[in-house]
Amino acid sequence: MPERTIMERVTSAPVYHRYRDPDLTELAHRNETLDVLLGHHSVRSFTAEPIDTATLETIAAAAQSAPTSSNLQAWSVVAVRDPHRKSRLAALAGDQAFIVEAPVFLVFVADLGRARRLAESRDVPLDGADYLESTLLGFIDAALGAQNAVVAAESLGWGTVYVGAVRNNPELIADELGLPSGAFPVFGLAIGRPGNDTAGVKPRLPLSAVLHHDTYDVAAADAGVTAYDERLGEYNREQGRDTPWTTAVLGRLRDASSLKGRDKIRHSLVSRGWPSH
Ligand SMILES: Cc1cc2nc3c(=O)[nH]c(=O)nc-3n(C[C@H](O)[C@H](O)[C@H](O)COP(=O)(O)O)c2cc1C
Repeated sequence: MPERTIMERVTSAPVYHRYRDPDLTELAHRNETLDVLLGHHSVRSFTAEPIDTATLETIAAAAQSAPTSSNLQAWSVVAVRDPHRKSRLAALAGDQAFIVEAPVFLVFVADLGRARRLAESRDVPLDGADYLESTLLGFIDAALGAQNAVVAAESLGWGTVYVGAVRNNPELIADELGLPSGAFPVFGLAIGRPGNDTAGVKPRLPLSAVLHHDTYDVAAADAGVTAYDERLGEYNREQGRDTPWTTAVLGRLRDASSLKGRDKIRHSLVSRGWPSH
């Protein structure tokens, strides 16, 4: 077998694709878990291969293995496989076709409903649940579980993509899923066997812009942005896109209308039993 050139070795390393940083071609450690994590990319094209209940249970067990604040386990997940329900959910979540294409659409739910029903049945107060802190707790718990689900699914060869657009219409999504009061849809996760998937690994900001030692270094946080615009630009050109990262960031957060309905999330939270004081 011919020896690989240095360049071939560098560009085949997972960390190279993650950053496209010529100065970061190797990490100190490498194993199967790290390769799954570093090789992540969102998949938005799926084959028709179904996903069975046993696989869903495996993924859910990995999700439940995530740490959870005070062991409250303030989250749930609804696995939607019914094509009609997936279509209705897709229409409510930005009309994203891959939601229907994926054999399963998981909707992760921040869930203090169980605790609320427990308090009701014992006739005790649960006022702590009404504060923003408890809302954050439920959302954080749901996110930690979901990301474990992503890693588990990808380790089994499935592709995944999150769908924050579930929060465009949280009340209608909640109705569609029959969520009780105290349960709030946080995001969806489409899972399926990758189909015509050419996305590849999307580079991230330079490590030095994100990892700070002992105290936060604003100069370092901002210094990597120009280099990143170039590195992501290269990836975007390969994908037939041309919006620089800096333009995309400013556009995504420009005003209330760029939140696509999510500017009303406080109202939705209150209506679903999350006062969030
Ligand atoms: C909470 C969350 C919500 C997201 N919502 C959507 C979505 O509605 N539609 C979509 O196509 N991608 C969505 N994504 C995927 C991101 O666009 C993607 O993770 C990001 O561009 C980085 O690309 P990568 O996952 O391929 O590395 C979401 C990701 C997260 C974490």
